[in-house]
Amino acid sequence: MILVDAKLSNETKIKSLKKYHIISYGCQMNFADSEIVASILENIGYDYTDDIEKSSLILLNTCSIREKAEQTIRKKLSSINFLKKKNSSLKIGVLGCMAERLKEKFLHEEKIVDLVVGPDAYRDLPNLLKEIEFGNDAVNVLLSKDETYADINPQRFNSNGISAFVSITRGCDNMCTFCVVPFTRGRERSRDPKSILNEINKLKENGYKEITLLGQNVDSYLWYGGGLKKDFKKANNIQKRTAINFAKLLDLVAKCYPDFRIRFTTSNPQDMDIEVLTTMQTHSNICNHIHLPVQSGSNKILKAMNRQHTREEYLNLISNIKKILPNCGISHDIITGFPNETEKDHIDTLSLMELVRYDFGFMFKYSERPGTLAARKMKDNITEKVKQRRLSEIIDLQFQHSYKNLSNYKNKLTEILIEKESKKSTKFWCGRNEQNIMVVIPKENYLPGDFVEVLVENNTSTTLIGFAKKKIK
Ligand code: 5AD
Ligand code: SF4
Repeated sequence: MILVDAKLSNETKIKSLKKYHIISYGCQMNFADSEIVASILENIGYDYTDDIEKSSLILLNTCSIREKAEQTIRKKLSSINFLKKKNSSLKIGVLGCMAERLKEKFLHEEKIVDLVVGPDAYRDLPNLLKEIEFGNDAVNVLLSKDETYADINPQRFNSNGISAFVSITRGCDNMCTFCVVPFTRGRERSRDPKSILNEINKLKENGYKEITLLGQNVDSYLWYGGGLKKDFKKANNIQKRTAINFAKLLDLVAKCYPDFRIRFTTSNPQDMDIEVLTTMQTHSNICNHIHLPVQSGSNKILKAMNRQHTREEYLNLISNIKKILPNCGISHDIITGFPNETEKDHIDTLSLMELVRYDFGFMFKYSERPGTLAARKMKDNITEKVKQRRLSEIIDLQFQHSYKNLSNYKNKLTEILIEKESKKSTKFWCGRNEQNIMVVIPKENYLPGDFVEVLVENNTSTTLIGFAKKKIK
């Protein structure tokens, strides 16, 4: 419902009575999706509010990747339950991966939920919201073959105004045996490059300086006119000849937007080819950073995980990255305690880390996810104690490598894009260098959006500390 605020004399201001609030959990894809949802809601007269108590609609964009993520979300749901007692017309909705995984069960198990919408069904939100006004259940968890939300301009309600995510693929076809994503986000499809460029254009007009091309598996990007990646075989000759792969898309974006910093995530070792590396080498505006999950250093475990590469192939790719892009930052995801992982397998993971010497990484204990092949066929047989000990060893080793790699920056210059105020002090800015390492500097007269050259004086295992020598642009 929209009403005109009569108290404002010369200016007629439209105020919406419908306020919404979105809380996002999990991967960057979920945060990007929340911005698409925001855009759909604002089109039908909703206004974003930071104040959860003033909302008439609260949406939780959820993550199912590990059991702990789901537990955190369930706790949040019970904690917002009390708001319904104060405001009986408040509606609460669950979006994203948990919505997809639990479907109708959500409405019946979690009594406070009014709305359940899977990641491919956000366009249906206006209809679903009408349904709940009539007191009906509102569930849509249909997965799509071609939905990429290409034409929807995300409402960047959570943004720092400098750096933005631009999604280029949705879904995943890899079927790693531990992973729930192919079930919750469906099959892989790519977004029309024209709509990607349109979105970047709007970001440019709004003063943004950096974009991160986003997908579960960006290197597998393939535009041949729309449809699932797996159906590319059925494409006609013209479609095959004119198809655009990830290296070509990167090249296009880098050429069209030479002033933009370009990042991408996530890469999968089996799909990242030399053409991507040489494209990165060609364009100085593509950041030298590759997030390359490995999950395990043991061939036995990689096979059981259905990863499409061996330890040797992964190390070969790393050596190509180091050869072609000597200054490239490299980060990882590792899972420890996968079913049947022995001490030897664990030591293989540690030795792979020694060979790569990553700058940083995300490290997890294996969490069994219902419905995955690992859950159906393998016993979660590594005890919590062993998982925790192995995880600590992996984290300790990563800490040493990160600290050493970051200390190599000391007394050297590095270029950063200032993004925002440092969390630790209002007197400092922070921004990342192209290797994706956080750098903190005194504010002086610099501003967010400035590219500055920093002399690094000190470091921790996660952050470089220095001062700006000069503004570059
Ligand atoms: N248990 C633990 N970690 C997982 N990941 C994905 N599924 C699981 C799981 N079942 C991790 C992987 C992936 C990252 C996004 O989350 O390392 O790369
Ligand atoms: Fe999950 Fe593997 Fe796809 Fe990543 S590549 S989303 S881990 S199935």
